[in-house]
Parts: sequence; C-alpha cells; structure tokens
Amino acid sequence: MIILGIETSCDETSVGIVEKKGDQLVLKSNIVATSLQIHSQNGGIIPELAAREQVKYMIPVLEQALSQIPNSKFQIPKIDAIAVTFGPGLIGSLLVGIETAKTLSILWNKPLVPVNHMLGHVYANWLFQQPQTSILKPQFPALILVVSGGHTDLLLMKAHGDYEVIGGTRDDAAGEAFDKIARLIGLPYPGGPAIQKAAEKGNPKAIHFPRPLIGEKSYDFSFSGLKTAVYRHVSTIKEFNNLTICDLAASAQAAIIDVLVKKTIRAAEKYDVKSILLSGGVASNDLLRNQFSVYCSLSNVMLFAPQKAFCTDNGAMVAAAAAFNYHPIPWQEVTVNPQLYY
Ligand code: KG4
Ligand code: ZN
Repeated sequence: MIILGIETSCDETSVGIVEKKGDQLVLKSNIVATSLQIHSQNGGIIPELAAREQVKYMIPVLEQALSQIPNSKFQIPKIDAIAVTFGPGLIGSLLVGIETAKTLSILWNKPLVPVNHMLGHVYANWLFQQPQTSILKPQFPALILVVSGGHTDLLLMKAHGDYEVIGGTRDDAAGEAFDKIARLIGLPYPGGPAIQKAAEKGNPKAIHFPRPLIGEKSYDFSFSGLKTAVYRHVSTIKEFNNLTICDLAASAQAAIIDVLVKKTIRAAEKYDVKSILLSGGVASNDLLRNQFSVYCSLSNVMLFAPQKAFCTDNGAMVAAAAAFNYHPIPWQEVTVNPQLYY
C-alpha cells in the first residue's frame, strides 16, 4: 500500500509518500517547504502569513513529491490513499492541507485518512529509508515522549492504535519554554536550536534554575515557573555579554532536559517498557538524545529518535501514522480540529 501524506498544521507545507509492505514502511519521498524565515524576523509564527505562504507552496510541493513516483505527473499516480493532518494546529494552515487532500481524494478516487498531528510525530519513529529487521523497530510496550512547540506528553503505547496518555504539561510545552526563554535572553525564534547552539559555549552549572515537578509522583510537567525564574534572573543582570547569554542558555537547557529525561525514565521503569521513543521538534535536541542514549545503553530499553529532519513537521510522518492506523472516512465528514488532543 502506498500512502501520500499532507502536513500543513503550522508553518511547514509538506508532502511525503511511504510504502507499507507487511509491517515494513519504506520512505519514497518527503518534500518540505517552510516559511520559518519570515517568522523568525517577527519572533514567532504569524498564522495569517503562514497560511498565505502555504497556499503558494502546496501545489509545487505536491508536484515535487509525486515526481519521485514513476509516471505520476500526467496520470493518476500509483497511490492507494491520501492521509492528511486535521489537527491540532492553526486553522488557516490546516485548511490548506485538508482542502488539497479532499480535492485529490475526489479527483483520483482514493480513500482519505485524517491523521492527528501528534500521532504523526510519534510515527516518525517508523520511517526508515530501507526495510528493517523487526529487532531494529520499536517494540511494545513503548513509552513515547512527545515534545514539540505545543505539547509535552508521555504516552504508553501497547500496540498500534492502543495508547494511553500518562502525563502532560500543566502549562507551557517544552518547545514553548525553549522559545520563550530564548526571547528573554535575546536569542532568535525558534528558540530550541538557538539555545542549543549558544549552550555549547556555556556552563550548564552557572545558574541553578528550578526543575519543576521533578520529584513529584505524577508524570506531568510544568515549565512556566522555569520561564519566570529565567525572567527574574535576567532582570538582575546589569550587563549582558556573549558569555552571560551562553551560560543562561546552557543552564536553562539543562533544567528543561533534566526534567524531561528523569520523569520519562521513571515512567519507563514503572511500566517496564521495551522501547523509549522521542518525537516532536524538541526531540532533535542533542543533550536530550545523548542523555537518553546513556540510559538506554545501560539498561534493556531500546531508544528510538527520528532522524533530525523528521523530528519537525513533515508529510512522511503523517503517511506513516495512517499506514499503521488505517481508518479512511468519507471526504464530506473530514473537517479541521485546531484544538484536537489525542
Ligand atoms: O514539532 P515542531 O516542529 O512543531 C510543533 O508541532 O510544535 O516543534 C517545534 C518546536 C519549537 O518550539 C522549537 O524551538 C523546538 O521544537 N526545537 C528544539 C530544537 N529544535 C526545534 N528544541 C530544543 N532543541 C532543539 N534542537
Ligand atoms: Zn509538529
């Protein structure tokens, strides 16, 4: 089965194509256009601008993705279904993808599979360039840390389609914390990559920022207190220089990653999972990846993290989620849901 996935929930416009052979998934193509450049000058995403750019990019991105499938340009492509993100996300952006997917579904007479964007991030962990032996694929039960600009969630997954949310953020998401703290210390948007880069030259122990809820039994997270602590600290600084910024970045990054890693490991031990899966934009953070690989190399738990290009929004992850959770519905019933949870 070949599935074409469309992703337009935030500032990316992306189309990916995957083929499912048995329980194997093979990546055929993945094209991403982003308007991040425009937003980084504004310090955050401007929804109206993002959607207008997506209207421009949608067809060229689709054409480019299809050009990887033989004979697809002038005839109905060899595609069995269309998958599309229907939420959560920005309403104008989601509509660009949904309307495109519906049109293709009618034109080509192909089933339409709506996909939850967050599950798309999870399924980026099943995207491989080549078929893998089962030992190299995520094993259940799996614990999934979803860390993006809008989410920080811990999911316990027992099988495809069988998952439970065991914890989530009570206020800001991890990516949001990176973005807001970056702004406070004078770094550009998106904050995560900027903080990671500055942190390379800073001392993570220079300032001890709080690790909210780290010792609490629940698997919930909270990052707004950390943001306030950074704000308070910054307001006491008389003169900013490069080193102060790097120390602030390294110390704040250490606090965020510490909480994410410790709480995830505690949940992994409690639920005796076979794999830990990282997903979402923050999963490309090197400190996060390194700390988990140290833990997993010393335990029996397998670690999975998508290639960095697949941690951020992309169409292939949407197609992958649909391949393992194949529930087509009539196009008339597909609508956007900007507030969708799980
Ligand atoms: O998953 P994503 O692309 O979009 C959403 O669905 O939200 O995640 C974007 C988030 C942003 O908050 C960005 O700052 C963060 O991911 N991010 C990072 C890194 N790269 C992206 N956070 C920490 N370290 C990184 N290297
Ligand atoms: Zn995302």
